[in-house]
Amino acid sequence: MPIAWKDSFAIGDDAIDADHRAMMALIGRLDAVTARPAAGPGVEATIAQLRDLCRAHFQREEALQRAIGFPDLDGHRLGHQMLLKRLDAVLAHFSSGCDQIRAGILRTLGDSLATWLVFHITRGDAEMRPYVEAARRGRRRVAASALPLG
Ligand SMILES: [Fe+2]
Ligand SMILES: [Fe+2]
Repeated sequence: MPIAWKDSFAIGDDAIDADHRAMMALIGRLDAVTARPAAGPGVEATIAQLRDLCRAHFQREEALQRAIGFPDLDGHRLGHQMLLKRLDAVLAHFSSGCDQIRAGILRTLGDSLATWLVFHITRGDAEMRPYVEAARRGRRRVAASALPLG
């Protein structure tokens, strides 16, 4: 399922919005590399890249959430942790699995990641928008790119 960035996905923080665009682009690339008959190292590298980007993005996003007083930090973080666990498991199975396991993973991975990401951005991350706007209007200017990680 190809997904494309829409301006309506923006939460109003440049670093977070750039991450979301990059995540969508990587899922699009995953779709493209899995469509090739000899899908292999390119797929694994793309999944690893997506996992690394997600890990860094979730740290940035959670730091922003703390800074802007986002109320559902724990619930939101749980969603992030579940996706990271899933990506780690996919990578482990993919790298150690036989061709049949790899094919099974590839059949559903791109679509399910695209569905998760769009749902998470439009339903979960979108809830941050009013808090980002309030922080912008306030005296403290908060931007994820300026926050310490962790
Ligand atoms: Fe999120
Ligand atoms: Fe996000």
